[in-house]
Formats: sequence, structure tokens, C-alpha cells
Amino acid sequence: MLSQFKNRDFLKLSDFSQSEVEDLVQLAIALKQSKDMALEKPLLQGKNIALIFEKTSTRTRCAFEVAAHDQGAHVTYLELQSSQIGHKESIKDTARVLSGMFDAIEYRGNSQALIEELALYSKVPVFNGLTDEWHPTQMLADLMTMREHSQKNYADISFVYLGDARNNTGNSLLHLGALMGMDVRIAGPKKLWPEASLIESCKELAKTSGARILLTESTEEAVKNVDFVYTDIWVSMGEPDEVWSERIQLLKPYRVDSELMKLSDNSHVKFMHCLPAYHDRETKIGEEIYQKFGLDGVEVANQVFESEQSIVFAQAENRMHTIKALLVAFLG
Ligand code: CP
Ligand code: NVA
Repeated sequence: MLSQFKNRDFLKLSDFSQSEVEDLVQLAIALKQSKDMALEKPLLQGKNIALIFEKTSTRTRCAFEVAAHDQGAHVTYLELQSSQIGHKESIKDTARVLSGMFDAIEYRGNSQALIEELALYSKVPVFNGLTDEWHPTQMLADLMTMREHSQKNYADISFVYLGDARNNTGNSLLHLGALMGMDVRIAGPKKLWPEASLIESCKELAKTSGARILLTESTEEAVKNVDFVYTDIWVSMGEPDEVWSERIQLLKPYRVDSELMKLSDNSHVKFMHCLPAYHDRETKIGEEIYQKFGLDGVEVANQVFESEQSIVFAQAENRMHTIKALLVAFLG
């Protein structure tokens, strides 16, 4: 079942079929069970994995490190400041150096083009730990979490993503829903919708997968009868602070609060967020936004974030199980 993954790259979800994505989720579920029962077998002994982070991370880095450790592999963490990458050595040269020493390379950075170049020159698998365009490892965890919190088949599951819909998470969720044949809704101002070419390709995909795709500026329409309400931060890593003011103005109607959750008319509706989230004033930026714009919690109200409906920490844990599945399938 897993031989089709051997030595491939994991750069974006569109390189994979519906059944391949499902195989990875099923493997993650199995690995989670074996860890829970203390029956996990290390399948990656002797493997070495380079982790390059051009942007900050808590979940993705820890997921790769713990997953590798559980499976007997070793990791080396590299960032720009303490390595030669970028300022003294090109990505092309870095790829050829690292693939002579490591069995795989994880990369989190800005442009998708750069990770594609890294993969082109690397002899070993490259995993995308987030770029400006895509966040594919997050999608495996999100799908696994939806699967765990719903009795329905994918075809019957509906989810809505509200907010900055042309960021890595928004793009990736639209594609995920289209690929898996789900009921996927995107809600936000038109200005922040995914690129027309992505919407088109997802609609094309929906013709074979059976997905229902809705893009709307209306929260009522988007949230009605939905199973999962998902949002992400309004200003992503790498964007300048100056965009906050405009973003808040554009996205305030799409903030996830109790009223918005009620629009689902579904007593079982769940709240999801890839995290980190601005849901209160307990972070530096959360407090700054409060002082400047009077918003206590930005994209999501604390009341929702801390509610019974919120499954964000289950989602965060699943980052580790799904990244472990990737490592086992691609390197094991
Ligand atoms: N969701 C996610 O990618 O989190 P980190 O930025 O902490 O890795
Ligand atoms: N859209 C967010 C995702 C963080 C996991 C960002 O790129 O900052």
C-alpha cells in the first residue's frame, strides 16, 4: 500500500490522488493507535532528516522532531541565521550538499518556487513544512481530525473556511475539500479569495470527486448546516505589520464568535484552527491589536476558542501523527 510514496517529494497536495491522501491519513491513525498502546515499532532507524526553517514554528518543527525520534530517526535543525543558507549559499547548492548527507529534507519558507527548486536539485525526498502558497502537512492533520470528529463519509462532511482565503491554509483547504469530494465553503471578501486559477482547477477536480464548492461573501450562506468552522490568522508570516489595519477592516465580519457558530444551526458543529491563534490578549500581538483596534481576540473570540466545540488541540496533536505517517511512507 505504501510503495507508491517511496522517494517522492511532498510539496503540495495536488501532486497526490484522493486515495493516496486517504492512505496517509489511515497510516497516521494506525501509528497513533500503536503509540497509544506502546506498541510502536521504529521503522526509521539510521535515517537522518534535515529541518530547514526560514520562518518560525512550534507545531511543525516539534511534529517532525517527535515523529522522527519515535521512529528512531535523527534530525538536524537549520535556520538562516546560523547556517549559510540564502545569504552565502543558494538553495540549489544547499540541496546538493544536504542530500549527500541526509535521507530527507523538510523546508519551511516563503516561496513555493524555492522549495520546488530545492526538490529539483535534491536526491532525497523534500517535505513542504509551509510556504506562502501551500501548507500540505497541515491538511493531513486537518483531514484526520475531521475524520475523528465525524461519523460521516468525506462526501457528506461540510466545512467552511472563513477569513484570509488566499493564504497558504485557505488555498490548501479549498484544494483538500475539492480533492476529497467534500462540501467546502470559502467565506471572505472577494479581495481575499484564492486566485481565479486555483478556484477553476478545484471546480474541475470537483467534477470527478463530487465535491461541492461554494465561495461567498455571505457568512449566513457559508455557515448554514456546516459540520466544521475553520479560520486562520488574518496576517500571515512574512506579511508586513502595516497590512493589519486594512485586514481587520475587511475581515471583521468574518470573525468567528458565538453568533457566527450559531448560524450553522448545528448543535454538533466544531471549531478548527491550524494555530497559532489570536484569541485573547495573552500574546504580544494580541495585546497590541487590542490597544490599537479594540479587538479582544482577532480572528476568533476566546469564548469559541475555549468552548467544547473547539477541537484545535486535537488538530495540533494530529500534526505529529500525520507527519510521522509521511516519514514512514516516504522513507520507511
Ligand atoms: N500550524 C502550524 O504550522 O503551526 P506552526 O507554525 O507552529 O508550525
Ligand atoms: N497562514 C499562517 C499559517 C500558520 C501555520 C501563516 O502563514 O502564518
